[in-house]
Amino acid sequence: MNQELLRQMLAYYRDIGVEDVYRRVPQAPVAAAQKPDLEVPLPPLLPADDSLEQIRADIGDCKRCRLHEGRHNIVFGVGNEQTKLVFVGEGPGEDEDLQGIPFVGRAGQLLTAMIENTAQKEGLPLKRADVYICNVVKCRPPKNRAPEADEMEICGQFLARQLSVLKPKAICSLGGTATKALLGTKEGVTKMRGKWFKWRDIPVMVTYHPSYLLRAYNQDAKREAWEDLKTLFHFVYD
Ligand code: URA
Repeated sequence: MNQELLRQMLAYYRDIGVEDVYRRVPQAPVAAAQKPDLEVPLPPLLPADDSLEQIRADIGDCKRCRLHEGRHNIVFGVGNEQTKLVFVGEGPGEDEDLQGIPFVGRAGQLLTAMIENTAQKEGLPLKRADVYICNVVKCRPPKNRAPEADEMEICGQFLARQLSVLKPKAICSLGGTATKALLGTKEGVTKMRGKWFKWRDIPVMVTYHPSYLLRAYNQDAKREAWEDLKTLFHFVYD
């Protein structure tokens, strides 16, 4: 197989989330009893020395899915790269698309207030800039619709790499889309919120998306989200 074809195949496997492929080395005929069962790994598709810079470079001027068509900016992520806590949302809205920074619109202002007010009430010196914030998809879905399965699948590989590099002590999953992407479940947030789950080995706290809290007439949801953050912050920072 020529090098270019091999390179394209590996890029394709990486795009669909396959992290390692193995090539069986052709064996010279040997006596059955001595036949070694050799599998030689090709270089891992998840780079061993991965970094946020590398992930951003790999995203490049991404056109892997239809979301690139309407975007102004790729919204990669923001915050402290040494953080113990990562918040994952759904995808950029209009303000985020224009500024290239996640959670800067109304929902973002509420998220910032939730983080900083909860921390202050709990006596923790935590600011928004101390955590890392990113989304499942990095380009704004048209009319703020929910990302579709293939868009989440494609962009999800970059989220997985971001989380693998950041290695936080915990992840906060904001709303249904993030929860589906991280935990592969269709269970509603109302049932899952306030409980611990795991993404790979990292504990995940599920809570409501701030956009839902902006819409909800139900004050209980706000109170519950505050409770979820308290539990999360004490786990991460005590
Ligand atoms: N909603 C999200 O899920 N992410 C953002 O960045 C902004 C709003």
